[in-house]
Amino acid sequence: MVTIEYIVDLVNKHNVWRGKECINLVASENVMSPLAKRLYVSDFMHRYNEHFEKSHYQGTKYCMEIEGFVKRIFGERFNTDKVEPRPLSGGQANLIVLAALTSPGDTIISVGLTSGAHVSHTKFGVVGVLRLEEKVAVNNEDLTIDVDATARLIREKNPKVIILGRSLVLFPEPIKELREEIGWDIPILYDVAHVFGLIYAGKFQEPFEDGADIITTSTHKTFPGPQGGMIIAKKDFPDKLWEKIYYTTFPGLVYNHHIHRLPALVVTALEMNAYGEEYATQIIKNAKKLAEELYDRGLKVLCADRGFTETHQILVDVRDYGGGAKVAEILEDNNIIVTKVALPWDTPKDATENPSGIRIGVQEMTRYGMKEEHMVTLAEFFDRILNRRENVRREVTVFRKNFQKVHYCFNNI
Ligand SMILES: Cc1ncc(COP(=O)(O)O)c(C=O)c1O
Repeated sequence: MVTIEYIVDLVNKHNVWRGKECINLVASENVMSPLAKRLYVSDFMHRYNEHFEKSHYQGTKYCMEIEGFVKRIFGERFNTDKVEPRPLSGGQANLIVLAALTSPGDTIISVGLTSGAHVSHTKFGVVGVLRLEEKVAVNNEDLTIDVDATARLIREKNPKVIILGRSLVLFPEPIKELREEIGWDIPILYDVAHVFGLIYAGKFQEPFEDGADIITTSTHKTFPGPQGGMIIAKKDFPDKLWEKIYYTTFPGLVYNHHIHRLPALVVTALEMNAYGEEYATQIIKNAKKLAEELYDRGLKVLCADRGFTETHQILVDVRDYGGGAKVAEILEDNNIIVTKVALPWDTPKDATENPSGIRIGVQEMTRYGMKEEHMVTLAEFFDRILNRRENVRREVTVFRKNFQKVHYCFNNI
């Protein structure tokens, strides 16, 4: 029978292992600052708030104020008053937007699963659940779309929404170029879940300036906030459509929206205002450096001809080492945590059973203070594990001991 001691021990073990001993390179994760973490656990987590403008619940005056700050801060950053912070996750944000803007039978364009689309953009996820028809954009080999061919497809299929953005993201989406070809009639939903922190800090493309209409995001990947989701539309997005998104959020799909997230989200945004540029710059430097160092040690890092990456992510074809599933497991045995991923040439069977690649994200370790010189050490670990078949678990744990403090945040409060 399970005991209290057992559960407490389990949580403590996890906290020590993933929190202090592992080199976490999962591209969709991050850690909150100490202050955000402290504010995350509060009486707000026991309370309800459901509302249009006015709450249906009593006792919500402080929640409404905090939610107002969230809208104001993100609205100021993206020059809009159309900010919806209630979705509980990035996937739910996609569900809300697609449910609001489409009807069953409509066609949407996505970049497709094996070119890195999130499953929610595809017939296996939200798009399928809403009974939409998914047409896959024409992709280049470097996980970007072929603008001319995709524009032709769009003209032919006349989709209701074009979904760009992906879970495997090395480079900006060519939104400007696509807009030049297709005009402005069809809304572009840009799912920036992975790169939101880089965008917020001004170190990636500006979605609305480039021609996107709506962005959906998680608030916890390169943007290092509490786990959650958000929808933001450009200032001149039609009010009628925004209203649809607003009412699809509540009373449509989100009821209590876990308001204890919001103080931590505000603090993270303020910390990003103060330190985001430095943090995002270092992330990109670290990703490029790690990619180079891995490549120099014989690993097949994708997109060498384009400088490997302009984000926090690196993709490596690891078929020579037995494939993504095997490599991710070997690395975990060494306290290095990465994600196995399908690459464009994988068949559906390979993609689920043993995909070709691994995805590495450097954002969390950057937040713990790693710089370019530490990327050399990480590459050495990969080399010893994969090329020389050594187990370096103990050394990884000792190395990680040097990186226990979260940087780029208000540490003295
Ligand atoms: C591009 C993209 N969109 C949406 C999601 C889903 O985000 P969440 O886990 O917050 O639902 C992910 C997940 O990692 C993602 O990569």
